[in-house]
Amino acid sequence: LLAKKTYIEETYSQYRHYMQKEIFEQPCAIQNTIAGRLQSDFIDLSELGENINILFSKVQHVQIIACGTSYHSAMISRFWLEKLANLPCDIEIASEFRYRELVVRPGSLLITISQSGETADTLAALRLTKNYSGYLGSLTICNTEHSTLVRESDFALITYAGSEISVASTKTFTAQLTLMLILITYIARIRGMEHVIFHQIIRTIEKLPRSIEQILSLEKEIKILANKFIHKKHALFLGRGSLLPIAMEGALKLKETAYIHAEAYAAGELKHGPLALINDDIPVIVIVANDYLINKVKSNIEEVHARGGKLYIFAEQNTGFIQCKNINITLLPKTEPIIAPIIYAVPMQMLAYYIAVVKGNNVDQPRHLAKSVTVE
Ligand code: G6P
Repeated sequence: LLAKKTYIEETYSQYRHYMQKEIFEQPCAIQNTIAGRLQSDFIDLSELGENINILFSKVQHVQIIACGTSYHSAMISRFWLEKLANLPCDIEIASEFRYRELVVRPGSLLITISQSGETADTLAALRLTKNYSGYLGSLTICNTEHSTLVRESDFALITYAGSEISVASTKTFTAQLTLMLILITYIARIRGMEHVIFHQIIRTIEKLPRSIEQILSLEKEIKILANKFIHKKHALFLGRGSLLPIAMEGALKLKETAYIHAEAYAAGELKHGPLALINDDIPVIVIVANDYLINKVKSNIEEVHARGGKLYIFAEQNTGFIQCKNINITLLPKTEPIIAPIIYAVPMQMLAYYIAVVKGNNVDQPRHLAKSVTVE
């Protein structure tokens, strides 16, 4: 994989845009983020200092703050913190968090997530928490080693995704998720996670670069699919559980790069409003994990289908979905549910990218947007 990294960087000219290059660099970005941290039977986070285990054993609550795509990483991290480490977690968009009267939970660890480490709202949120004595400490997950956020946080873990040029984040998102999963598994082990489960998760994370390579091989299929979206004005993304944030990320990518109004909804909320929108002109994109929620999502799909909706389903092989009128299936390789959000982010990025390309948009520099939002 390291050999591959050099190859990718040397051959930028084979890509039309930075966004495409960065999507395809994900196996390498993840490998670089894992390197040195995942050992065969333990996780090495000694970069956080020798007292970190004592601090992690005292944590009773985690508060995560972020903006944009990084906020979607926060949403998935909450899911993992509850499931793996049995830790309560609150997540919030930095621009909201910074203007609230904070009630700090006992034993709270503050985590910020950011690609740039310079996002004004995230920095302001971090600085605000320094006025409260209740936090155990602040840790940032950041892609920019010499950033303000890294300097001002008590602890930092760097995602080694390499520089990201395209305004829409792609490789830094999956690298953030990978690093959060490593961190949460580490904390969970300190707090009593069973040895067997701990090892299973390490093995699963190790497979990530290879699993993403398999997804990238769907490029041709997703390119063809993209053509069906060129004239669409609206799109609805549905997901449940740990894939709801991926539906949100898919909708965000579509807005940012393809300029299509897209909304993401928790599939279980359909009946409380969005069903009224369903017609054959609004594509409904559903991301399905092969987990305990699959039958629930299937009945949500049925609700849309029965009302004449046009469905684009992304699901694992052998999960019983059948292509028919108004149902298009993109089959994805078998994936462990715990890493499904990382893997399933990739087809969402590719879909938005290819729609933006067919529409002739300025993919890397979408109108009105900036890569790093350093003012409020
Ligand atoms: C901007 C970028 C997004 C990014 C967000 C948060 O809006 O266009 O891609 O997700 O800022 O940035 P950060 O650097 O804090 O992750």
